[in-house]
Amino acid sequence: MKKNIKMLYREWAKDYDSDSKRYLATAINERAVVPLLAPKKSDTILDIGCGTGRFTIPLAKRCRKIVGVDFSDEMLDVARRRSACLRNTEFINADITKKLPFRANTFDKVLCILVVDHVMDLSPLFREVRRVLKPGGKFLYDDVMGNAILPFDGRHKHPIAKFMKKGKNVIIMRPVQEHIELMAKHNFKIEKMIPLKITARERHCMTKKSFRTNKGKYHGLMFLLKK
Ligand SMILES: C[S@@+](CC[C@H](N)C(=O)[O-])C[C@H]1O[C@@H](n2cnc3c(N)ncnc32)[C@H](O)[C@@H]1O
Repeated sequence: MKKNIKMLYREWAKDYDSDSKRYLATAINERAVVPLLAPKKSDTILDIGCGTGRFTIPLAKRCRKIVGVDFSDEMLDVARRRSACLRNTEFINADITKKLPFRANTFDKVLCILVVDHVMDLSPLFREVRRVLKPGGKFLYDDVMGNAILPFDGRHKHPIAKFMKKGKNVIIMRPVQEHIELMAKHNFKIEKMIPLKITARERHCMTKKSFRTNKGKYHGLMFLLKK
């Protein structure tokens, strides 16, 4: 599965930023992340599965330092190019299912957006996030789930949609119960659980029919946890 994920993001990297405005899964979390993470000028932040730096770069302007990790060289190349004029960003190639290359208690905040649906066993990731977060630090992440019924329609032309149309899979759907169990096992407190609801602002991401059926329903859940 990891080999396929790397291959798909290698292919997607050059178009990911323009596509992220057009597709629901990437567009719907756009407005929620920065206000929920509430970055402070003194914060050191870790962006896990940072991709092209869609959130790393806007957050860099609001914190002391931000580090992005991802295992796709091509996604990281885009992020590095886009952040060339920023002095407080660093991008590292690492597999987030393994030990993260940071000391314990390093970060004030960790975010991980649109990534955990690619990770089979989340326990090592939760263990590592807890280790690298400072006491009282925050962990913001999301997962694709909800009551919206959204098959990839004809408008989805990105590599993952094409791959899945062939009957293959790189997206793990897990019940919310699994998240709650993970949080309890790794000793995180839940601060907020936010349904990512489909609103008129996401209208352009969907066909007319799909929007009519799914308006007001949710397509993902975002969790704000505290160590
Ligand atoms: C949908 S993109 C999300 C990127 C960014 N967080 C955003 O919201 O735009 C998923 C990212 O997760 C990365 N990823 C998936 N599995 C990974 C793993 N095991 N280790 C490191 N990165 C991984 C992919 O390379 C890809 O860049």
